Amino acid sequence: MTVWTRLHHTRSRLLAATVLFSAVALALISGSAAAAPCDTYGSGGTPCVAAHSTTRALFASYNGPLYQVRRASDNVSLNIGVLSPGGFANSAAQDSFCANTSCVITIIFDQTTRRNDLTIEPAGTAGPANNGVPADALPVTAGGRLVYGASFSGRMGYRKMAANGTAVNGQPEGMYMVTSGTHFNSACCFDYGNVEVPVADTGNGHMDAIYFGTLCWFPPCNGAGPWIMADLENGLFQSNTGVSQNTANTGNRSPYVTAMLKNNGQNFFATKDGNAQSGGLTTRFSGALPTFRPGYSPMHQEGSIVLGTGGDNSNGSIGSFFEGAMTAGVPSDATENAVQSNIVSVGYGGPSPVAGGTLNPGSTISLRATTACCTTRYIRHQNNNVVTSVISGSSAALDRNDGSWIVRRGMANNACVSFESRNFPGDFLRHQNFQLRRQPNDGSALFRADATFCPQAGQSGQGTSFASFNFPTRFIRHFNNTLFIASNGGPNNFDAQASFAADVSWVVSSPWAP
Ligand code: AHR
Repeated sequence: MTVWTRLHHTRSRLLAATVLFSAVALALISGSAAAAPCDTYGSGGTPCVAAHSTTRALFASYNGPLYQVRRASDNVSLNIGVLSPGGFANSAAQDSFCANTSCVITIIFDQTTRRNDLTIEPAGTAGPANNGVPADALPVTAGGRLVYGASFSGRMGYRKMAANGTAVNGQPEGMYMVTSGTHFNSACCFDYGNVEVPVADTGNGHMDAIYFGTLCWFPPCNGAGPWIMADLENGLFQSNTGVSQNTANTGNRSPYVTAMLKNNGQNFFATKDGNAQSGGLTTRFSGALPTFRPGYSPMHQEGSIVLGTGGDNSNGSIGSFFEGAMTAGVPSDATENAVQSNIVSVGYGGPSPVAGGTLNPGSTISLRATTACCTTRYIRHQNNNVVTSVISGSSAALDRNDGSWIVRRGMANNACVSFESRNFPGDFLRHQNFQLRRQPNDGSALFRADATFCPQAGQSGQGTSFASFNFPTRFIRHFNNTLFIASNGGPNNFDAQASFAADVSWVVSSPWAP
């Protein structure tokens, strides 16, 4: 390096530092918001063509709606906007609109001018039509305020067909999403990014989306995941050979994860992830597009946008989404680092911790029977059925996990409760033909009603009884150690009057698996 080049580099660095310092100083002096992710992508020469979030504006000047909710009681919809330009979601508006009923998210609006709004995804070749995510299932804090992330169980997804401005046929693009390393599974495919125009698998290279989860498509993958991978269609790629080439990449279990993908559409792609609460990004792969199978180099993207499912609507996956954007052009590393800094500055965090053993949403509990026969028995799932078992501190971990439930806001009425399995996230306690089961939430109105129970004082004078939301004269009852919703003296054998009051009274206890 000549003296002149060294001087030139030093001058460029000084200039860059001065520009950055001036921008921050100007923002502080003027009180204007610092650059949000899409401002940063724009000034880096790779503008956002889509920007989606349920938590905040992704442009410093954005002042429009973030998402739309529809409530169950009367099917009326409301747009949820930001509290101020460039600010956070107005969750209080959602809370009052959805009080004593339940809401699902029907639209996640595009914050760019391209109107690439995500609506509930229709049926595809690999899965039936989707449902919207429950609007209040994922309360978190951002900027010190309560906001809601989007919590996907199976059979939930959003799509924008043939979006405006997204990459097609080998054009370059980048994208990121903030997701969670605590809510995932190994079903196909929790994706955000570029997919086909038909809801179908149209061949290798017709997708370019971020995948996050534990579906190891090309073994070996290292550690237990969940991993960021590039869903390029017919494969989730950790490298140009498919497999993980990096033994250090054991996945990312941070509560909030930044996941990034960029692809020049011809012969290069890169994946990165980071802790969305602190620090920088780690590059997981940066190199050639796969050539060991045809179709990926060059790419053949079709330009639709998906959130929550695979390109063909494979919709068994679960996951969390807080924000994400897609760009025209491949963002530079510097741009991506600046986006990560901005994400960290948001301060994503959990809502205030909730003590276990209570019926407050977020608390983990176990439910103990009170009938004289059975006071050491707890409600647990077993082979997808729900029964009571004797559980104690010395029980096997599996039994203690099966006997622990996370209290959630009632899916059909947020004044009641739902119970999510501790060890099968996304699966809930619901009744079906009056018997209780553990099943994945499919988001349907029937599931939401079947999985909602309204607590009242225990009928025996002890503990709590849980009335079924859609059969309010029926209560969670154990009968021959199997769980039903029963009505006192009703037509079924499990409705028997003998010991009814005790059988429907439960002690809400500290969880066997906290
Ligand atoms: O590439 C993985 C998945 O394969 C895609 O998301 C889906 O379209 C296909 O089933």
